[in-house]
Amino acid sequence: MRYTTAAAALLGLCAQAHAATATRAGFGQLADGTKVEAVTLTNSAGMSAKIMTLGATLQSLVVPDKAGHKDDVVLGYDTAQEYLSRPDYFGASVGRYANRIAKGKFALDGKTYTLVTNDGPNHLHGGTKGFDKRMWKIDSVSSGTDAKVVLSYVSADGEEGYPGELKVTATYSLNDQNELKLEYRATTSKPTVLNLTNHSYFNLSGNDARDVMGNMVTLHAARFTPVDATLIPTGERKAVSGTVFDFQTAHRVGDRIRDARDQQIRFGRGYDHNFIVDGAAGTLRPAARVEEPVSGRVMEMSVTAPGVQFYTGNFLDGTYFGKGQRAYRQGDAICLEPGVFPDSPNHADFPTSRLNPGQSYVNTIVYKFSTH
Ligand code: BGC
Repeated sequence: MRYTTAAAALLGLCAQAHAATATRAGFGQLADGTKVEAVTLTNSAGMSAKIMTLGATLQSLVVPDKAGHKDDVVLGYDTAQEYLSRPDYFGASVGRYANRIAKGKFALDGKTYTLVTNDGPNHLHGGTKGFDKRMWKIDSVSSGTDAKVVLSYVSADGEEGYPGELKVTATYSLNDQNELKLEYRATTSKPTVLNLTNHSYFNLSGNDARDVMGNMVTLHAARFTPVDATLIPTGERKAVSGTVFDFQTAHRVGDRIRDARDQQIRFGRGYDHNFIVDGAAGTLRPAARVEEPVSGRVMEMSVTAPGVQFYTGNFLDGTYFGKGQRAYRQGDAICLEPGVFPDSPNHADFPTSRLNPGQSYVNTIVYKFSTH
């Protein structure tokens, strides 16, 4: 009996040693006195992810390189207030509608809704005070095979012009296989449109030692959605073959990014386009692979969403100073934002962004890290 107890205790200890842990702590306060918290998920393989309550934001993501050195691989700020003062969606949970809605207008069941235009003539990333600028609540924190945090936010009916009360959760979990899983879920009280995503800016060199032009990128996408000069999709689904948008096999980001013979590169100032992920939307399938040759870090992304916006930080202009007072410049990061296509509410033949009462919205993203 005593032996059994001792063995059980030992087994318990071993399990603990390999468990991933979640710890909750303060993360300073905003200028108006609002207290911000952060949960750090740590696994036994050297990875950790810090998520703060402002914007359910992935504030830091520490990943070992091929020599075992741990570095932060996402852009962002050291303090919560900077995320509000100099917002560029670093690591944020974006909503209600990530990406653009043309002229800030859409119709639903015969009624036209008008949203703020905060990106030239268009609506971008949920408006003036989108989900990235809201305080989310920590619903639960747990350690075990996965370290996990569940955050929630209730968006009032009419907030930022969108119909329906939307109840949203963001669940981040980290396991010992170096997989960070992120799941957005939502329900609504009235028919509405939505597109929730995470807007992390990845720089796998760690602490932004280098820009991302040398990163090798693969996108599992045979087609993309070309845009007009204001980055609204024209409606076309264009084959990437024979274009600078063909990342079906690995290419250096920088090799074709300056090819201004392609009008789409001119419009985006580089890559800022939605790629249509191969395979069936709704099932988790590979979308992208990014490899940083010097550090050897590799990120593989799987998604359930129909599309992924591939954006190369083209609007970073050196005026934003991030963690460790580092100036962020064009091409310093790769964003991969899984979701429905931009401006879906105005394109009947795009995968739908509509959510009805009684339905559950789910968007699952898995970021898997390794070295080569
Ligand atoms: C958009 C960019 C925008 C960036 C940051 C991306 O999702 O596609 O055009 O500049 O977010 O706000």
